[in-house]
Amino acid sequence: MPLTGPSRTALGVAVHRAVHQVLDGGHIFADPFAKSILGPDSEGLIAERSSPQHRHMRSFVAVRSRFAQDFLAQAVARGVRQVVVLGAGLDTTALRNPNAAVFEVDHPVTQDWKRERIAGMNPPAGLRFVPVDFEQQNIADGLALAGFDLAAPAFFVWLGVVPYLTRNAIHATLDFAASIPGSEIVFDYSQAPERYPPKQRKLVMALVERVAALGEPFRSYFDPPEMTALLKSKGFGRIEDLGPREIGARYLNRRIQTGRAGGHVVWARR
Ligand SMILES: C[S@@+](CC[C@H](N)C(=O)[O-])C[C@H]1O[C@@H](n2cnc3c(N)ncnc32)[C@H](O)[C@@H]1O
Repeated sequence: MPLTGPSRTALGVAVHRAVHQVLDGGHIFADPFAKSILGPDSEGLIAERSSPQHRHMRSFVAVRSRFAQDFLAQAVARGVRQVVVLGAGLDTTALRNPNAAVFEVDHPVTQDWKRERIAGMNPPAGLRFVPVDFEQQNIADGLALAGFDLAAPAFFVWLGVVPYLTRNAIHATLDFAASIPGSEIVFDYSQAPERYPPKQRKLVMALVERVAALGEPFRSYFDPPEMTALLKSKGFGRIEDLGPREIGARYLNRRIQTGRAGGHVVWARR
């Protein structure tokens, strides 16, 4: 099924962040805009996603935003002033960082929808929209047109996007990020479902089927050694890659004894 409207998965993860505020008190990731970005239907959307079956995915979505926010805060403290949110969806980084230049790059149809949502939320002056299809277009041209300084350091946030892209588009995006001096990137990726333990495999297969039915199928999986090698080959010398065990220990107060396959969050710096 081809994608005809705004990304449904973008709405889905935004609802998870809003539910996290309401049910979990935002204890992993506090986002004062998570509910309002959903618009007038927020209460109904939140109610629909509040059942226990969504708890695991909600935690992962909250963790990846928190991971990005923590590294972004360190980058801003070091003086980085350009932030690029790749595949932004309803991400609220721009609203939470009103003093940075934030470039939101997204599929044109999804971006139009986001612009309507954010228009009434007092969007900061530094927010720029860059409509780009990662599979078809060059990010550099769009960003340069929007005023991005190719010679100044930048922080890239790329959450919930890598699994949906082909390896070609992933390489092109990493090449671009690596071409910016002093760049940093935060993203998440998944190992292939067949690598997951049986209980988690069932959950991830349900997700795989759900996103495919929405016209946004998963296209790329990685194992951690392959991801590390890929990032190194692009020139990222410092890498932090957290798998389920490290995520459980750092953010979820959950002890997983052995390393097991699952979703990962990564930070990398040139
Ligand atoms: C699961 S959503 C994640 C949205 C957002 N990053 C977040 O975490 O809330 C996936 C996002 O990737 C974007 N995306 C997927 N494929 C894309 C492509 N080929 N070009 C541009 N954006 C794409 C979608 O438009 C959508 O905004």
